Amino acid sequence: MPEFSEELKRLQAMTESYLAEQFTQQAEYGVLLEAMRYSLMAGGKRIRPVLVMAFCEACGGSAETALPAAGAIEMIHTYSLIHDDLPCMDNDDYRRGMLTNHKVYGEDIATLAGDALQPAAFRTLSLLSVSPAQTLRCVRILAEAAGEHGMVAGQILDLSGETRALTEAELREVHLHKTGDLIRAACQMGTVLGGGSEEQINAAGDFALHLGMAFQIRDDILDCVGTAEELGKPIGSDAENGKSTFVTLFGLDRCQELVAQETDLALDALQNGGFIRTDFLEKLAKSMVSRRK
Ligand code: IPE
Ligand code: IPE
Ligand code: MG
Ligand code: MG
Ligand code: MG
Repeated sequence: MPEFSEELKRLQAMTESYLAEQFTQQAEYGVLLEAMRYSLMAGGKRIRPVLVMAFCEACGGSAETALPAAGAIEMIHTYSLIHDDLPCMDNDDYRRGMLTNHKVYGEDIATLAGDALQPAAFRTLSLLSVSPAQTLRCVRILAEAAGEHGMVAGQILDLSGETRALTEAELREVHLHKTGDLIRAACQMGTVLGGGSEEQINAAGDFALHLGMAFQIRDDILDCVGTAEELGKPIGSDAENGKSTFVTLFGLDRCQELVAQETDLALDALQNGGFIRTDFLEKLAKSMVSRRK
């Protein structure tokens, strides 16, 4: 069995080279493409694309088959980060170890770069070489996860946490959507592309919602105790914006217990899915518990 870190690097490298080929045309409005590439190629962890490909492999498919979906979800994720960092949102100056998009290109271009990444993601999905039914299923999964009942819903609920203290149930709702939905889309698109059954698509969804919860609670922890060098983004952003987070509700120690608990629930869901192989996904989920970036 290949080493976990080698497999992770393989899937990350496939993502990097796929994305490196995007938006390279010469155009009069070249600054737009440059701004899109600036954030896309700034070196994120590529967790979502890795999940797409890993779930495809867990069902017996090949990572190559899933590459367009991996690229597409990273485009949506990157757009969400560009907009999340804008002054009207979290107002952050650094992302992925570099100045945020609007700090380099201005708020107008940054907004448009985020806008353009969204249709680009769906065009990329249309390039999948699978059955039309599988492609359409992926389009629906990604659109629902990214849209007004998905990630954007999470972002708007997150804003309400700037003006009042949210309850645990409300915060779970925020995290479920702002972070969980895209992670779920990644896992479920991968399962669809690997030819997984409906039961496996459901199991991938359950795994993802718990992983997403653990991932965002850990993000809230790192906003307090991480380092900007490791994270590539400023710490203290939530406190500065007076945000309700799991840390403000429960404190750091209890939050780390919740991260472990949610990860265990994710692992249970994975075991119940009847996948061909789960070793890589298990290790990936476990590595997120103590991530520093
Ligand atoms: C950051 O996502 C935003 C959250 C949903 C917590 P990541 O931690 O995956 O950021 P990158 O892609 O590695 O930069
Ligand atoms: C953002 O959550 C989730 C998105 C949909 C972009 P955060 O605002 O906590 O993400 P960071 O900490 O800026 O990466
Ligand atoms: Mg935010
Ligand atoms: Mg933010
Ligand atoms: Mg955060």
